[in-house]
Amino acid sequence: MAKKIFSGVQPSGNLHLGNYLGAIKNFVNLQNEENNECVYCVVDLHAITVKQDPNELKDSIRETTAAFLASGLDYKKSIIFNQSSVAAHSEVSWILSCTARMGWLNRMTQFKEKAGKDKEKASVGLYIYPILMAADILLYDSTHVPVGEDQKQHLELCRDIAQKFNIEFNCQNFLVAPEPLIQKSFSRIMSLKDGTKKMSKSDPSDLSRINLNDSKDTIINKIKKAKTDDKTLPSDKKNLNERPEVENLLGIYSSLSDQNLESTVNEFSGKNFSEFKKKLSELVVEKISPISVEINKLYKDKEFIDKILNDGAEKANKIASKKVSELKKIVGF
Ligand code: AMP
Ligand code: TRP
Repeated sequence: MAKKIFSGVQPSGNLHLGNYLGAIKNFVNLQNEENNECVYCVVDLHAITVKQDPNELKDSIRETTAAFLASGLDYKKSIIFNQSSVAAHSEVSWILSCTARMGWLNRMTQFKEKAGKDKEKASVGLYIYPILMAADILLYDSTHVPVGEDQKQHLELCRDIAQKFNIEFNCQNFLVAPEPLIQKSFSRIMSLKDGTKKMSKSDPSDLSRINLNDSKDTIINKIKKAKTDDKTLPSDKKNLNERPEVENLLGIYSSLSDQNLESTVNEFSGKNFSEFKKKLSELVVEKISPISVEINKLYKDKEFIDKILNDGAEKANKIASKKVSELKKIVGF
């Protein structure tokens, strides 16, 4: 069945292997399934929930767009645009913030993590960020949303908002409650330095992640320095959860080679890490280096990227402005 797909990625710093394996790779597969209508958004309004340098934001938007294209998204098949260029996102976010409940937002674990100890100092935007995310999704009647595991709770909130709005305004099925699409395996890629922490843009150590625009030598060096232990590679996956760094590296290898964890474990059973890391480096370089070369090439052509974003915004605006005017009528404006 044809699906309406929506997803977003923040333009804050470099995209990394976690973004690629947890989300973007899936965006490309969905785009290439027949009949799907896909909308992929560079969510710049979400990015400013934490401080951004205004001199760098525009280039970060272009860089994320370049990463989308370099990973295989095709602007002829999918709508690719940046969120702030379609006003309906902010407008609907406000209306839906009158439907969402404080109690629902208070449960969001990502806010707790991102706000840290001093919640009083977090921006209000960071707190209500999941409502903007719901607006993104609901504006396009999206049926499926490919995301990493960490966004599951926000998707549940989006469904709650849709259902409450439909009941409150007596407009059954007007807002479509979306299904999350979360990869069954390897949905969380972990830090190369600490297997219990997510690979993340915000980790101060660059050695903790592989960026999509890392050079070949950087990739090899980061894998060489990735944390392991002094045992050999396991012969079965049973006790791997006690060795989170090893499990993560085996997972990355499996995901990039499109095979299951068992096959990877069998392939390297009893081998030492230097041999495994050499193979892993070769594979990461083979899969990521072409993307990196392409990002760096596209990124230099600012006019081309800006044209893609403008064209995408025009298409997105057509869909979104229709939905927003229906929604305003329902609310009574
Ligand atoms: P963000 O960079 O936070 O905007 O995330 C963009 C997408 O990448 C979202 O769908 C996230 O769930 C996904 N993602 C981010 N970090 C990881 C990770 N370490 N492993 C898997 N997916 C991730
Ligand atoms: N909040 C998501 C993240 O940080 C990004 C995002 C914004 C998103 N709007 C979205 C993802 C809509 C899916 C659908 O990763």
